[in-house]
Amino acid sequence: MNEQIIKDAKEYIESLLVDESTGHDVDHIYRVYRTSLEIAKDYPNSNLFYISLAALLHDVDDSKIFKTTNNENARKFLANRVNKEDEESIIQIINEISFSKNKDKTPTSLEAMIVQDADRLDAIGAVGVARAFAYGGNQNRPLSKSIEHFHDKLLLIKDKLNTEAAKRIGEERHQFLLDFLEEYKKETRD
Ligand code: ADP
Ligand code: NI
Repeated sequence: MNEQIIKDAKEYIESLLVDESTGHDVDHIYRVYRTSLEIAKDYPNSNLFYISLAALLHDVDDSKIFKTTNNENARKFLANRVNKEDEESIIQIINEISFSKNKDKTPTSLEAMIVQDADRLDAIGAVGVARAFAYGGNQNRPLSKSIEHFHDKLLLIKDKLNTEAAKRIGEERHQFLLDFLEEYKKETRD
């Protein structure tokens, strides 16, 4: 694997995502990157170079933050560093990760399944709770709106995970959401 390209990708995302406050900050990217590599340990045949770059670049064209089209930011990075075939494969992985773009479509590659799982795992558990309220705050929404988001989206994630490794991690994080909601309900009851 070309370590220099991975290092450059880290610098690139750090420069693009500085000041990000909708829940797609640099820490989110690094968590997704690390979790992807953790899940990939179960899949020795997966392409770690694709997984690493897709994880690092997966939010650089997110429409909540950037106005780019055709994955412009990701392509700008990849164009002079990898060949066309690798560029297209990595872009396809990135495009298959997004929850909103794909609804219930299953990713077509093992690499996309792994990074999609890592991205989704970051929306549940304690980090998921924190991100939901951070997002609500960024949009000037009351706490109750973020609680709705738990029911609309976050509680459904556990059953949409692709890989066994992610399902194991997801089980515990899902339970944390349920415990949190129960306690929240108790404290807000009138
Ligand atoms: P992804 O980066 O996986 O495509 P999103 O952009 O949909 O995910 O969401 C990023 C983060 O913001 C997630 O943690 C998600 O739970 C949170 N989020 C998205 N929409 C809402 C919402 N309407 N209310 C509260 N949190 C939200
Ligand atoms: Ni993400």
